[in-house]
Amino acid sequence: MLLELEKDSFASGQIGSKLWLCRELEKTLPSTTPLTYWVLGGWIGMLPFLIRSREVLPVKSIRSFDLDGVASEKAEIINNLWVWQEWQFKSFRADCNELDFNDGGPFYSDAPDVIINTSTEHMPNQKWFENIPEGRWVVLQNTDMKIDDHVNKVTSVEQLKEKFPLSQTHYSGELYFDYGNETSFKRFMLIGQK
Ligand SMILES: C[S@@+](CC[C@H](N)C(=O)[O-])C[C@H]1O[C@@H](n2cnc3c(N)ncnc32)[C@H](O)[C@@H]1O
Repeated sequence: MLLELEKDSFASGQIGSKLWLCRELEKTLPSTTPLTYWVLGGWIGMLPFLIRSREVLPVKSIRSFDLDGVASEKAEIINNLWVWQEWQFKSFRADCNELDFNDGGPFYSDAPDVIINTSTEHMPNQKWFENIPEGRWVVLQNTDMKIDDHVNKVTSVEQLKEKFPLSQTHYSGELYFDYGNETSFKRFMLIGQK
């Protein structure tokens, strides 16, 4: 079943990190212009679901990209309300290192105004970041959580800034998930313009 298989996406750390992102982005982005969002490593689409459900940020469309085709199909189930409304949401199986951020055409989209990657710790290759044009809005998260899949993790927000240099940083911070034991971890976030 969908929820059974993806229970990790509903873990407190996952949802808490995405709500934090929504709160800070809502304070940062212009509140009147509908924008196009591309989410890299978007998994099963919980972030687009939360952005849309909060009904604060005006959205033109959201595109989600993930290497995992099954996760990508699930993202369209979770965000079906917006798939149905003229593809305001659509998810694609794709390597984000191969995306052209100046050409939304293959994805029935405009070029993205905002590029979000909350899976940076999973991506050893940073070509996707190098390919983002200067001036574009970027939202990045990473974590110090110690698991084998985290092949590109950082241990501080300063390290995240070094890894992903931005020309303007509008928000930088960390959120501590204190479980009172060794599973506690920090999540780091940058919001700015490349
Ligand atoms: C475990 S999930 C997401 C964890 C993360 N904390 C989150 O929810 O934002 C990481 C996702 O990144 C995807 N991924 C890793 N490398 C990728 C790449 N080069 N292009 C697209 N997706 C990628 C994986 O397929 C996986 O679905």
